[in-house]
Amino acid sequence: MLDIKITKTTTPKAKPADESKLGFGKIFTDHMFIMNYTEGQGWHDARIVPYENVSLSPAAMVFHYGQEMFEGLKAYRGANGEPRLFRPDMNAKRTNATNERLCIPQLPEEDFVQAVKAVVKVDEDWIPRAAGTSLYIRPFIIATDDFLGVAPSKTYMFMIILSPSGAYYASGLAPVGIWIEDDYVRAVRGGIGFAKTGGNYAASLAAQVKAHDGGYSQVLWLDGVERKYIEEVGAMNIFFKIDGKVVTPALSGSILPGITRNSVITLCKNWGYEVEERKISVDELIEAQNTGKLEEVFGTGTAAVISPVGTLRYKDDVMTIGSGSIGELSQKLYDTVTGIQNGTVADEFGWTVLV
Ligand code: PLP
Ligand code: COI
Repeated sequence: MLDIKITKTTTPKAKPADESKLGFGKIFTDHMFIMNYTEGQGWHDARIVPYENVSLSPAAMVFHYGQEMFEGLKAYRGANGEPRLFRPDMNAKRTNATNERLCIPQLPEEDFVQAVKAVVKVDEDWIPRAAGTSLYIRPFIIATDDFLGVAPSKTYMFMIILSPSGAYYASGLAPVGIWIEDDYVRAVRGGIGFAKTGGNYAASLAAQVKAHDGGYSQVLWLDGVERKYIEEVGAMNIFFKIDGKVVTPALSGSILPGITRNSVITLCKNWGYEVEERKISVDELIEAQNTGKLEEVFGTGTAAVISPVGTLRYKDDVMTIGSGSIGELSQKLYDTVTGIQNGTVADEFGWTVLV
C-alpha cells in the first residue's frame, strides 16, 4: 500500500467548454502522480502534485537510449456520474511484462492500480460527460540516471498524467482506411514488439507518414521475417470476420497483447462465435475478399475502442470491406464494450473497477 502525499493546485485550470471538440491527448488535467525509484531503496516518494513541467538532466538516460515504458487506460463516467476503470489490473500486469523486457524494475500491481485510482479521484471532475468521451490515463516510467553509458539506469520516475479525450480518429466511428505496409516492419521475433515502449512507436513513424500521405489513417504491419502475415495496426490489434468466424493474429511475441483484444475475444466466444487466434497471411485476406467471405474488419484498442476498417490497401490492391460502413458485429462489440465501461450494460465478467 502506497503512502501517497497529495498537494493540490491553487490555480485550477478551466475545463474544456465544448466536450465535442476534445480530440485525443491534447488537454491535461490539474494534477499528476509521481513516484521515484532508486536502486537499493526501491519505489519511494509517491505523490500527487499540480501538473507541471519536469526537470531532468540533459544526460538522463531516457533521452539517449529510450529506456522507458508507457500504458494507456481510461476512466469513464457511469450513469450516476461515478468514475469507473476498465480492467486496470491488466495494465498493471502488462507494465511488468514491459518492464522485464526493458530492464526497468518491477512495480507492484496493487501500487499501480492504487496510484491510478488516487490521481483519477483527485481530478475526477475532469472526466467528461459527453457520449464517446472519457479521461485517458497515461502511466509511464522513464530512466533518469545522468549517464551516457549503455546500461540499465539505477533511478527511474513513474508518472501518471490524465487527458480528457474524445475519439482517437477524427472520423469517430466512421470506418478508417488502413495501409498494409510491405516495406518497413515494426517488430521481429526476440525484439520488443510485445512491450509497450516508445521505441516501437518511434520505429512506426516513417510508415505512418507514408500511409497518411497516401490518404490512409494507420499502418497495418506484416511480420518482420516474410512480410506475409498480418500483425497489428499502429495503435490497435486487428480482427477479421471471415465466413462467420472471428479471426485475429495469435500473440506471437511481436504484437501488443491488447486488453481490448482480450475482452473482444471473451465476448465473441461468449456469444457463440468460433474465434481463431492464428497466423493470417495477406494472401488469405485477399482470397477471402475475392470470394466474398471477408465480412468485417475492425481494430481494437483503449484509445481506438472498436474501430471499423472500411478499406485496406495492399500494394496496388484496394479492398473495400463489406458495404464500407460499420459491420453488425463491430457495432455490437462497440455498444457492449462501451456499455460495460460506462455501466449501462451488465458487467458479467467483473471487468469494472470503481475508483
Ligand atoms: N497495439 C498497439 C501497437 C497499441 O498501441 C495498442 C494500444 O494500446 C493496442 C494494440 C491495443 O491495446 P489495448 O487494447 O490494451 O489498448
Ligand atoms: C492506447 O490505446 O492506449 C494507446 O496507447 C494507443 C496510443 C499509442 C495512442
